[in-house]
Amino acid sequence: MAMPNLVKDAAYTAYESSLRKEVMNGAIPKHIAIIMDGNRRYAEEVLGEPTIKGHTMGRDKLKEVLEWCTDLGISHLTLFAFSTENFKRDPEEVEYIMELMEKSFYEYADSEEVHKRRAGIRVIGDRSLFSPELLKAVEYAEEKTKDYNEVTVYMAVGYGGRQDIAQAVRCIVKKVQKGEITVDDIDEDMISSAISTSDIPDPDLVLRTSGEIRISNFLLWQMAYSELYFTDVYWPGFRYIDFLRAIRTYQQRKRRYGA
Ligand code: FPP
Repeated sequence: MAMPNLVKDAAYTAYESSLRKEVMNGAIPKHIAIIMDGNRRYAEEVLGEPTIKGHTMGRDKLKEVLEWCTDLGISHLTLFAFSTENFKRDPEEVEYIMELMEKSFYEYADSEEVHKRRAGIRVIGDRSLFSPELLKAVEYAEEKTKDYNEVTVYMAVGYGGRQDIAQAVRCIVKKVQKGEITVDDIDEDMISSAISTSDIPDPDLVLRTSGEIRISNFLLWQMAYSELYFTDVYWPGFRYIDFLRAIRTYQQRKRRYGA
């Protein structure tokens, strides 16, 4: 017999609260990076809705994740919103996502909650791929939140890990050409300083939803020592319980390595 909803909700709330308590007793990661996958499958398989709707639900989930990070004291969040490869999707879908992002950047920048929480937003990725409208929305959100760093959200749009490394190399080579540094000066720290997330620590935990066990050209340089966590849940269906479980697994792994 199926459990009535009221009982199910109460059981989830109790479980969530005990999980939260457990997680709060351990080391909280400073930086979590997320590959948000499964939007289309969620819309189609779980809700029987057109696949494109999944992206709006995926966007809505971001507000919750921000609340969870504030609740736990996680200061950096990097989200893989749109890869360079995603531009090859059906033009109608690309347009839908671009408009959704544009609208969302304005909403973010004007949200009372964002200013109350002092949650800054920055975008990483190849801006030459953005439409002028999207670029304007991105710059508006960055400007409006430039002084905030209680929580910093890095939104990866038109992003690729290899492209990020290539742009870091170009930047360093230019310095060599100008005679500012020599080839022998080039070391790991210098590359880390030239990479797009240079002003924040590397991710402690990289999480991917939807059951795919791949990194898909995300933060390749930055995740050299990150813990990786994969869950079968589709992104729009990702709950606080799933987030807490991921952090608990991270803490258990850390504890084992430290022993
Ligand atoms: C992956 O699921 C999702 C995307 C490629 C797009 C994600 C975009 C958003 C969540 C909107 C972002 C909003 C802002 C504010 C930046 P999928 O489409 O690959 O789904 P599937 O794995 O089921 O095919």
